Amino acid sequence: MADLKKEKLMLRALRGEALACPPIWLMRQAGRYLPEYRALRAKATNFLELCLAPDLAEEITLQPIRRFGFDAAILFADILLVPSALGRKLWFQDGEGPRLEPLAARDVAALTRSAIPERLSPVFETIKRLRKSLPVETTLIGFGGAPWTVATYMIAGAGSDDSGAARLFALQEPKAFAALINVLVDATVDYLVAQARAGAEVLQLFESWAATIPAESIAAFSVGPLERIVEGVRAKAPGVPVMIFPRGAGTNYLRYDAIGADALSLDAHVSLEAAVGMLKTRCLQGNLDPFRLIAGGKPLEESVRHIRRAMNGRAFIFNLGHGVRQETPVEHVAQLVSLVREAAA
Ligand code: CP3
Repeated sequence: MADLKKEKLMLRALRGEALACPPIWLMRQAGRYLPEYRALRAKATNFLELCLAPDLAEEITLQPIRRFGFDAAILFADILLVPSALGRKLWFQDGEGPRLEPLAARDVAALTRSAIPERLSPVFETIKRLRKSLPVETTLIGFGGAPWTVATYMIAGAGSDDSGAARLFALQEPKAFAALINVLVDATVDYLVAQARAGAEVLQLFESWAATIPAESIAAFSVGPLERIVEGVRAKAPGVPVMIFPRGAGTNYLRYDAIGADALSLDAHVSLEAAVGMLKTRCLQGNLDPFRLIAGGKPLEESVRHIRRAMNGRAFIFNLGHGVRQETPVEHVAQLVSLVREAAA
């Protein structure tokens, strides 16, 4: 029992403990809303250089921890490093987001995961350094993209609201699409296991485009592949909790719940009252509307109280329903952390 109490808050919640004050971290907690991030970003040639330079990636990961003392740090990297390590050209157009050379059906056979250990070795080095530089109470989260979400960027060559290019590709080139998902499943297992071996204590899978999958394809495009990843990671890195964020999954949250991951991350559209009754995953995470964090004041206070009350008695990690937006005032983030750590739920 004494040992259990010394365990980091984040890991206690992930083992199923309902804490009076939930641990807190935020998706995109390192990023452009922080002046110290913008200063480092301005000095680098491009975003990829930041991800692949261990001294810079370590520093950026630490920035929000120093400022706000979050319970967890998320590795500074990007889900699109995997397609880049599979041999696809990747670049970040300033102000426009990621760009990849669009993938055609005939390109799939050439994707090989053998270069992952070598090409992504700077990421593993960043993790090793962070385990030494982070405060003892802070948990280090590694992450990867879910195969569908990564495939949408690979096929279209950019982000899109409806994932139209990937949906059409899946229908018109079913064999190439299945092969692509398979390569991404195996590559993601390799990548996440290597992160765990380097020192990542928790792993999160981002299915950021779950909302664009038609209901009849949820199993083949997303839930099945995620199940295989969770199984693969558990076999090779036992004891490292895995969290899944199927953003915008709506009623399909029930299908993701059935995967039996260690935590399920809820977007801001999920009703917590409904989720508590229906979802069986050991720990839930979420789901503050990022716009309430921008607004601050009463809208922020009311929602934090509501979330804490709804999740009282349940293993829970406080987070946003999606990433911190660039226009978020830093003072509101500090206010959020103190509200979450106030004694009464
Ligand atoms: O603080 C953190 O959360 C850790 C780092 C992190 C980044 N990207 C840094 C980043 C994480 C966990 C991601 C994941 C990621 N990347 C996702 C899944 C999460 C989500 O937001 O849904 C996705 C879809 C991507 C792909 C990606 N990378 C996009 C769509 C963009 C452009 C969006 C934007 O805000 O410009 C990026 C670039 C990116 N990744 C930035 C950061 C800090 C901004 C880069 C810059 O400084 O110009």
